Amino acid sequence: MPADPLLQPFQLKHLTLRNRIIITAHEPAYAEEGMPKARYRAYHVERAKAGIAMTMTAGSAAVSRDSPPVFNNILAYKDEVVPWLRDLADACHTHGAAVMIQLTHLGRRTRWDKAAWLPAVSASHAREAAHRAFPKKVEDWDIVRIVKDYADAAERMQAAGLDGIELQAYGHLIDQFWSPITNDLDGPYGGSLDARLKFTFDVLTAVRERVGNDFIVGVRFTADEALEGGISKAEGLTISQRLRASGMIDFLNVVRGHIDTDPGLTDLIPVQGMPSAPHLDLAGEIRAVTRFPIFHAARIPDVATARHAIKAGKVDMIGMTRAHIADPHIVRKIIEGREQQIRPCVGANYCLDRIYQGGSAYCLHNAASGRELAMPHAVSRAGTSRKVVVIGAGPAGLEAARVAGERGHEVVLFEAMGTAGGQIRLTVQSSRRKEMIGIVDWRLAECERLGVQLRFNTLAEMSDVLAEKPDVVIVATGGLPHTQVLKAGNEFVTSTWDIISGHVRPGREVLLFDDAGDHAALQAAEIISAAGAKLEIMTPDRTFAPEVMAMTLVPYLRQLQSRDVTFTVTFRLESLAREGGRLLAAVGSDYGGVHKERRIDQVVVNHGTLPLDALYFDLKPLSRNLGAVNHDQLLAGMPQTVETNLAGAFQLFRIGDAVSARNTHAAIYDALRLVKDL
Ligand SMILES: Cc1cc2nc3c(=O)[nH]c(=O)nc-3n(C[C@H](O)[C@H](O)[C@H](O)COP(=O)(O)O)c2cc1C
Ligand code: SF4
Repeated sequence: MPADPLLQPFQLKHLTLRNRIIITAHEPAYAEEGMPKARYRAYHVERAKAGIAMTMTAGSAAVSRDSPPVFNNILAYKDEVVPWLRDLADACHTHGAAVMIQLTHLGRRTRWDKAAWLPAVSASHAREAAHRAFPKKVEDWDIVRIVKDYADAAERMQAAGLDGIELQAYGHLIDQFWSPITNDLDGPYGGSLDARLKFTFDVLTAVRERVGNDFIVGVRFTADEALEGGISKAEGLTISQRLRASGMIDFLNVVRGHIDTDPGLTDLIPVQGMPSAPHLDLAGEIRAVTRFPIFHAARIPDVATARHAIKAGKVDMIGMTRAHIADPHIVRKIIEGREQQIRPCVGANYCLDRIYQGGSAYCLHNAASGRELAMPHAVSRAGTSRKVVVIGAGPAGLEAARVAGERGHEVVLFEAMGTAGGQIRLTVQSSRRKEMIGIVDWRLAECERLGVQLRFNTLAEMSDVLAEKPDVVIVATGGLPHTQVLKAGNEFVTSTWDIISGHVRPGREVLLFDDAGDHAALQAAEIISAAGAKLEIMTPDRTFAPEVMAMTLVPYLRQLQSRDVTFTVTFRLESLAREGGRLLAAVGSDYGGVHKERRIDQVVVNHGTLPLDALYFDLKPLSRNLGAVNHDQLLAGMPQTVETNLAGAFQLFRIGDAVSARNTHAAIYDALRLVKDL
C-alpha cells in the first residue's frame, strides 16, 4: 500500500513536524483571567496525545492592552503568561506535538468598553460592523509602542518554550494597514502597497531582533479580501511574495475573504451546507508562486479532503480545526486504520458561534471537547456489566446507548419510529443541513460496533421495559411542539414541525410567531417563503432567532432576504379568531399599550417542546431512585447512589428534551455526563 501522504513528516526549518495535520489558531474562550490554565492545557494535550503534528494555540492572543479580548483571548502582553504556556508546551511536547501560538493586535476588531477602556486603534476611522468600535486613527507613537508590544510578546512566547509564533494579519491591525478600505493614512504607512506593508515589516524586524533567526515565525493572512476596493488576489500574490522575500518568516498561512461582517466571516470559515475546501486552490496557487511552506484551513472536515490537499501539492500542512473539536483522535484513528470511527464534524458551527455569544467553544455533538478535565473522549469500561434500557433514539438516547455500550453494559435501545434521529430527522429535511445526519449515523454505527440491541418500530410501554429486567432505565423520549401559548385561538395554530415535516402545506399569507428563537422557526420560514408565501416572522424578543447565533444565521438570511419575508421584533401574537375564511391576529407588545391586527391565512407558532414523559412517570414508582438525580454526584463525576425506594428494581433517569426543551448539545451532554459513571 502506498504511504499515506497525511502521515509523512514535514521539515519546517529545524523543526520536524511528524505528519501533515495541524490545528490552526482558534480561541476556544477557555482562558481564565487571560491565562491558559489547566482546562486550556488539557484541551491541547488531548489532541497532542492523539498524534496531531502541531497545534497553533490560542487565537488572536493579544499583544497590547488596547487590543482587549473580544472572546476571552489569552493576554500575551502579560509576563505571567509565560509559565502557563510553558506548562502547556511541555505537556504537548511530551506527546510529540509541536506547539505555536497566534499573536495579534486586533486593531478595530474589538470594543473600547472592554478591559482597560482604551480606544480601539486602526489605520483609519472606519468602523468594523461586527465589533462596532469607532477606532482612533493610529499616530506615530501608537505604531512605535505596538511594534514593541509585538516584539515583547514574541520574546515571551520564545521564553515559554513554544516552537514558534504566527502573526494574525487578516481582519486585524496588520491587514487593516494592508487593505485600502481600512487604511487612509498618509505616508510612510499609507498609500502605496509598500507603505501599507511597512507596519508589517516594522513588526517582523522588531520580532526578529528579539527572537533571533532560529525561532519560527509565520503570518496568517488573506490573499484575496474578495471585497470591492480591498486586497485583490493579484495584490495578495504580491504580498505573499514580499513576505517570503523578506527572509523574516518561515511559513505562510493562507485564507481568503474578509471578516468585518458575519457573512464575510462565514464565507472565510464556511459552515454546513457550504462547499468544502473552497479556498484550497488559492492556497495552492500561492504555494506554486512562492515555493514556500503553506498552511491552510477552511472547512476540510474529512480525512479524504485533507489527504487530497497534501497529495495534490496544494499545501504543506493542512488544518483540520473544527474536525479536531469534533474528534480529537483523528490522527490516531488514521494510524490505527479506524478512519470510519472518526466522529464527523458536521459543520454546525456551534463551537465558533458560541465564543461570540460570550461562551466557551463547545461541539454540538461532542460534549467532551472543552471539558477534558471532567469528560472522557474515550469512555472507560465499567467494573460490572449491567443491563441498560434506553427509550428513544434521538441524540440523547443514541448517546446514552453509545456510552453505555462503551462502558461494557448490555444495552437495549427502543425507538418508536422505523429510524433513529429524533428531531435531527426534521433538521435534515433542509438540504443545507443534511450533514447533521452525521450526528445520528456515527452514533448508530458506534452502537452497532458496541453490540447495542436496536429495537425500532417499538413504542415501548412499561411492560416492554420491565420484560428486559433492566438495572438502569434511561428515558430519552424527547418532546412534542408546544403551540398552545395564545390567550385565544390556539386551535388555529400550526407548528413549525408540521411545516418542516410536510404534514401541513404553507399558506399564502403567513404569520410565524417565534419566541423560542431557534432553528425550527427559521427552517419553517425557509420552507414557507420558498413556497411563494408572504411571510412575517414576529418575535417579542429584541432580536430574532437569538439561539441560532451569528454565522449559522447567515445562510438562512441569504435565503429569506431574497424572498417576501419581513421580520418584526418586540411584538407578541396574543390571540387569533376566525374571520371569513381567514384568521384575524391580535398583536400586542410586552412594552405595553400597543394593539395591532394582522389578517393572514396561516399562523405558525414556534415555542419549543413539551416533554413526552408519560413512560417516565409510569416507571417512576417502580424505580429505586424514584427518578431522582443527585446533582452533587452528577457534577463531581461520581456514580448515582440515590435509593429512595428500596423496593424498586432499577435506577431510572430522564435526559434531553424529555426533561425540558433544550438543544442537541444539552441532550448529548445530559447523556454523556450521566452514563459515563453508570
Ligand atoms: C472556536 C474558534 C475560534 C477561532 N478563532 C480564531 C482566531 O482567533 N484566529 C484565527 O486566525 N482563526 C480562528 N479560527 C479559525 C480557525 O483557525 C480555522 O481557520 C477555521 O476554523 C476553519 O478551519 P476548519 O474548517 O478546519 O475548522 C477559529 C475557529 C474556531 C472554531
Ligand atoms: S460544533 Fe459543529 S462545526 Fe463545531 S466542531 Fe462540532 S460538529 Fe464541527
